[in-house]
Amino acid sequence: MQQSPFPNKRLLARINPTGNSTSMSWMLRYERLALWAREEWQRRQADQPYRLVWASESCGNQLAQSRIQPRRRLKSKAYYTDVEQVECDQVIPISEHVTPGRDTVLGETVGAFVFHFEHPDGPFEVLYVSSYYRDDDPNIVAIALVPDNRLAPWAKLESLFNDAVRRPSRRQDVYIIGGTNAYFKPTVDWDAVILPARIKQDLRSDMEAFFKEGVPIYQELNLAPFRKLLLVGPPGTGKTMLCAAMAKLALRKKRVVVYVSGADDDGASFHKIHHALNVVANAGYPVLLIVEEIDVYLRKDDKARILNVLDGLESPNNPRGALLLATTNYPEVIDERIAKRPGRMDRIIVIPPIKDEALATEMLQHYMGPQWQPDHAEVVSQLVGQTGAFVREIALHARMLAAHKQQRVVTLETLRQSIGSLTHQINTGDDLMPRRQIGFGAEPGGNGFGDLDDVEIEEDRTRWAEPEAGED
Ligand SMILES: Nc1ncnc2c1ncn2[C@@H]1O[C@H](COP(=O)(O)OP(=O)(O)OP(=O)(O)O)[C@@H](O)[C@H]1O
Ligand SMILES: [Mg+2]
Repeated sequence: MQQSPFPNKRLLARINPTGNSTSMSWMLRYERLALWAREEWQRRQADQPYRLVWASESCGNQLAQSRIQPRRRLKSKAYYTDVEQVECDQVIPISEHVTPGRDTVLGETVGAFVFHFEHPDGPFEVLYVSSYYRDDDPNIVAIALVPDNRLAPWAKLESLFNDAVRRPSRRQDVYIIGGTNAYFKPTVDWDAVILPARIKQDLRSDMEAFFKEGVPIYQELNLAPFRKLLLVGPPGTGKTMLCAAMAKLALRKKRVVVYVSGADDDGASFHKIHHALNVVANAGYPVLLIVEEIDVYLRKDDKARILNVLDGLESPNNPRGALLLATTNYPEVIDERIAKRPGRMDRIIVIPPIKDEALATEMLQHYMGPQWQPDHAEVVSQLVGQTGAFVREIALHARMLAAHKQQRVVTLETLRQSIGSLTHQINTGDDLMPRRQIGFGAEPGGNGFGDLDDVEIEEDRTRWAEPEAGED
C-alpha cells in the first residue's frame, strides 16, 4: 500500500483516539506516533542518538515476522534476533487474519514493536510503531526510531519483511486472492473434464511446453517469461472445471497456483491483480495464475492497467515462469480489447458446448454413473449443443426422481422428463432475460458464440521471437 506522508490535515485534526490528551488533538496521526516514540525511546535508551524514519507497514505483519528467522544476518555485521510487541497509548493493536493454507494466521498488524539486533559493537534496538490513518482509510502510517549508525541493517530488514509478506508459504496448496478458500479447489481429475481431446491435449501441452522449454527461450530473448491463455465459452461448458484440473496438474509438478477471485466485497478490483502479480513475481517457483471472468476487470476504470499487464508493461517477472489462465463468457470484450491486438493473449481457446453424440454419450454416462442404462443413449441427440452443466443437472435430477419414486433403475421416461423440465426452465428464464448481442458472429437472440465449430481454436499468437518490424 502506498503511504502518503501528507494525510488530510483537517480530517486528522479532529481525531483523538485516546480521548484523554485534548492538547494533542490538533496533531497529525504520524506526529502523535512520533511524539510517543520519542518519549518511549528516552525511557528505554536515553543516550542513544536516533533517526526518525518512515517505515514499511510490512514490519508489523505477523506472518512476515514468523517467516524471518531469528539470527538472520543483515548488513554491516548486524544480526536480527527477535521482535517484541510493546504497549503504546496512541494505538490499539489490531491484526487482520489470513488463511494462506489450512491454518488461519494473523497477518497485518498495527501497533508498537521493538526489534532487537546484535552487533559486534553491542546490541541495539529499533522502535517501530504503526497505525491506521483514520477509521475510513485502510492506509497505514508507520515510523521507526533507528540508532543513528544502524540505518543500513534496518533497511535490509525492512526489505526482508516486504518480501516475506508477498511470499506464499511453501505448505500452501493454492494462494487465493479474494473470495474464500472454499471457492476454488484444485481437486478435479484431468479425466473428469469431458471435452474434445484436441482441446484438452493442446492446453496441457501448452502448459508443459511453456514451463519446460518455453521459459529458457523467453530468458534467452530477455523477456519476462509470462504466457497468457484465455478460455472463452458460454456458461457451464467447463472452464472453471478445466482451470481446477490444470491447477491439480500444476501442483503435482510443484508449481504454485495463484487464484484471483472477484467473489467478495472488493469485487473485481485491480488491487487484487496487483497483489497477485506481486505474489507471482516473488513465489520462487513456477506459477499458474488463474483469473476467472477477466472481462469484469476490463470493464472498469482499471482496464488500462489490466491491458498494461497483458501487454507486458506491468507483467510479473518470475524467472521460473508464470502462466496466466484467464476465463470469460463474453467474446465481445475479448473481441474489442484483446483479440484485435496481437500479443495481449498468446492463445485464445474456445471451450464449446457438447459438439457431437460421442461426447454427449460420454458426458451422460459420466453423470449417470452406475445408473447408466443402454437405452439412455436414446436422449443423446438432444444433448448435442447443450453444456456439461446441463447434462450434469439432468442426470442428477433424474437419479433423484428415480430414488424418490423408489425405482431401482432410472428409466428412459424419467430421464426424458428431467430433460423436459430443465429445458422448460431455461426457456422460461431466457424470456425473462434481456437478450445481449455479442461478438463472434452473433445473431440477434443467439448465444453470442455463433457457430463454435468454426472458432474452436484461434490461431496461435505465440511470439517466441522478437516482434516483427511494424508491430506495435
Ligand atoms: N466439459 C465438462 N466435463 C464434465 N463436466 C462438466 C463439463 N462442463 C461442465 N461440467 C459440469 O458443470 C459444472 C459447471 O461447469 P463450470 O463451472 O466449469 O462451467 P464454466 O464454463 O466455468 O461456466 P461459467 O462460464 O458460468 O463460469 C461443472 O462443475 C461440472 O460438474
Ligand atoms: Mg466458471
